[in-house]
Amino acid sequence: MLHPLLAARWSPTTFDASYELAASEIEALLEAARWAPSAGNSQPWAFIVGQRGDATHARLVRHLARSSGAWAPGASLLIANLAHRYVEDTDWEYSEFSLYDLGQAVAHLTVQAQALGLHVRQFRAFDRAGLAAEFAVPQHWEVTTMAAVGRAAATSAAPSAPERSSCARRADKASRQRRSIDDILWPVA
Ligand SMILES: Cc1cc2nc3c(=O)[nH]c(=O)nc-3n(C[C@H](O)[C@H](O)[C@H](O)COP(=O)(O)O)c2cc1C
Repeated sequence: MLHPLLAARWSPTTFDASYELAASEIEALLEAARWAPSAGNSQPWAFIVGQRGDATHARLVRHLARSSGAWAPGASLLIANLAHRYVEDTDWEYSEFSLYDLGQAVAHLTVQAQALGLHVRQFRAFDRAGLAAEFAVPQHWEVTTMAAVGRAAATSAAPSAPERSSCARRADKASRQRRSIDDILWPVA
């Protein structure tokens, strides 16, 4: 059976704009990312973390797209997810897997958030080049995605857990359809 933490996880677009994360919650989120597996234990990730109200948050918000700008600033935390990319003639042996590794680290963070009663929505709707310039991110680091973390607003309807059939909102239900297990198994000839 799917673990309840995984079954209950979902990505809201309406966050409680008054909820402030405790320092211990932020630390637990980053610890979860930190302990993710990575190729050769290379840990090729870095995070730009802005807490609603601080200067980093304001600088991150500047680069949101019109779509994410409508909901992401209400989250308690905005995180830009960076991967250390392969650079020719360096000893960075494992960074060919850095995007894979970063995804796992963010997945761990997401499950940790769920365990803390928090929610995460990862997103790509922002100006990656603008954000990289804003924080003087060097070429061998890639700004990949962002994550908004906080408490889902009380008004946002949680979609059904995967094993349930009814759903509060048609749109949420549609966006949470999954391919079947049969469909994700490669047809071995
Ligand atoms: C790499 C990535 C990029 C995403 N980009 C966006 C985005 O730009 N805007 C958005 O609203 N959601 C975005 N999402 C959220 C997905 O749409 C969402 O995770 C998906 O619909 C499944 O819903 P669930 O997380 O509730 O299971 C993104 C998720 C990932 C992992």
